[in-house]
Amino acid sequence: MNWNQSRELLRGRLFAKYDAKEAKDYDTFVGTLTTEDENAYLTDILEAVSILPGNDVLDVGAGSGALTKILSRVDGVSLHALEPSVAMCELLKAKPALAGVKMVLGGCDRKSDRDHFAVSSFDAIVSRQVVNSLFDPLVAFQNWFEWLKPGGKAVVIDGIYGRDGWTGIWAEEVDAIPLSACQSLATIPYLMESIGFQVDSVRWMNRANQLTSTRTKRYMVVATKPLPT
Ligand SMILES: C[S@@+](CC[C@H](N)C(=O)[O-])C[C@H]1O[C@@H](n2cnc3c(N)ncnc32)[C@H](O)[C@@H]1O
Repeated sequence: MNWNQSRELLRGRLFAKYDAKEAKDYDTFVGTLTTEDENAYLTDILEAVSILPGNDVLDVGAGSGALTKILSRVDGVSLHALEPSVAMCELLKAKPALAGVKMVLGGCDRKSDRDHFAVSSFDAIVSRQVVNSLFDPLVAFQNWFEWLKPGGKAVVIDGIYGRDGWTGIWAEEVDAIPLSACQSLATIPYLMESIGFQVDSVRWMNRANQLTSTRTKRYMVVATKPLPT
């Protein structure tokens, strides 16, 4: 078996872990944010990137909708969510604030995932705590690049997760996923730039990092799909 084939098997193993119980636990302990938490995230995000009324915004790896819900507070935004776990999708759809979100069931880091959306569909693609679970981050960024309109923004929110952050059924994933325990703010922008994004900013999430609920320091990368020359 070559590396690509085993990656496909490992991805399937990870997707299967977000069953009804894991998804519910995730939603209870991580995916449901207080108003204070949402305010902090939204302030950090809007300081780094403009999300405007009328924008089409895709939340990749939306889970039970934590980031989708934060963005639903920006008036007039058309929200889309991509998520491979059926159980997570059900939890997201059950939230009244997210009733209007257009959901697609699926992942983002296989070449075949490209077909989920047409070229140039979105003004912004956002993700929170997803890039550290991707088996093929470069393919994911290539897919996002295609799905973004020229001038559109990719927003990656992640944390400084260590090997010891992967416990229980997740522990075996730490050496299967390339960015599982990434300790540098330089890695994600480097990968994004290498597939054609122009990196706008790489910064700590100062408001979110002050929250008592934030155990792992968060940072955010904002990058643009350049306009054609
Ligand atoms: C830690 S949760 C984060 C959920 C949500 N973004 C949040 O902020 O609470 C990671 C999510 O990414 C999803 N995911 C994992 N691999 C993915 C992939 N290859 N493509 C898209 N989503 C993926 C998982 O199913 C899970 O819902």
